[in-house]
Amino acid sequence: LDNGLAATPQMGFNDWNAFGCNVSEALIKSTADAMHSNGMQAAGYDYVNIDDCWMTSTRDANGNLVPDPAKFPDGITGTAAYVHGLGLKLGIYEDGGTATCAGYPGSLGHERQDAASFASWGVDYLKYDNCNNTGVSATTRYTTMRDALAATGRPILFSLCNWGQESVWTWGAPVGDSWRTTGDISAGYGSMLANFHANVGLGAFAGPGHWNDPDMLEVGNGMSTTEDRTEFSLWAEMAAPLISGTTITTASADTLGILTNRGVIAVDQDPLGKQGQLIANNGGLDVLAKPLANGDIAVALFNENSAAATISTSAAAIGKTGAAGYTLTDLWSGATGRTTGAISATVPGHGTVMYRVAGGSSGPIPSGVVSATGAGKC
Ligand code: DGJ
Repeated sequence: LDNGLAATPQMGFNDWNAFGCNVSEALIKSTADAMHSNGMQAAGYDYVNIDDCWMTSTRDANGNLVPDPAKFPDGITGTAAYVHGLGLKLGIYEDGGTATCAGYPGSLGHERQDAASFASWGVDYLKYDNCNNTGVSATTRYTTMRDALAATGRPILFSLCNWGQESVWTWGAPVGDSWRTTGDISAGYGSMLANFHANVGLGAFAGPGHWNDPDMLEVGNGMSTTEDRTEFSLWAEMAAPLISGTTITTASADTLGILTNRGVIAVDQDPLGKQGQLIANNGGLDVLAKPLANGDIAVALFNENSAAATISTSAAAIGKTGAAGYTLTDLWSGATGRTTGAISATVPGHGTVMYRVAGGSSGPIPSGVVSATGAGKC
């Protein structure tokens, strides 16, 4: 969406995966405080997003949405002011149907009024869900809310959450800043892997202002540290929104170390805005390559299997030519090395080794062996 708000994929926090319906002003404020002081804000995480269950079960007499006063004693306005005071931005959730997935009032038929409420409260981001949509086409519903947001005059990032339905990637670019390509992620390797597979072939549809969204980060929510690093690496290779779904206030040093890895974040946030491609997948041994603005290529060697394995590619295979040697920077260990062309590593089961490859000139990545497999589902 050409609203200038997602030149690079959005970064932030969303409460749903760790807290479900237990959202509150206290949670949002304490999370914002933690992001402000634990290095996340400095690393680029600037949205603090409220998910479902923030409102009362009915609209007021004038048809307005009402923040639940027990959960949000200062309202969304007070919560937004607090978050803004820390230099962060506030996101909110609604649904383009008659009710949200948890049963609170939806925005279908109330788009203008609800967008005006969000703007008047100081909201900076809207995640727009897809439950109870009564069969009205997603293009109609999401376009109506896009126009309602634009009419407020307030910059509000628009995150489409229709789970890849109606092949949203084929029509989402002029409608939203990002679109979910999959059903809900959960905190397990299998779920993360399925969302990766559904999203990785859709790179042709993504770019600055219109990103594929394979759902939130489960880093810190129960996968192994190796798997957490893999999710973060793959999401960065795919130029995905980096929305942490963990409990930020109690996140471990390992979790924060992953979430604030500057080298990996720089791959995600690279201004060229190209989603990485899967250029090989031999028996679950995957090679992804993402061209970067300065001519470097970010390579991920991902081992989908449980046993350690050697994964190999080459400078030529990722489109790098014309130099006697190239520099590899391992974005997880920080080590650098030189190669005349071979790019290879022993990768633990479920692990990912990620290199930034510099030197020579960069041409197009030779055409991949893997075609688009987008398979959105609810
Ligand atoms: C479905 C969405 O996909 C989730 O991310 C979350 O927003 C829930 N709905 C909330 O009900």
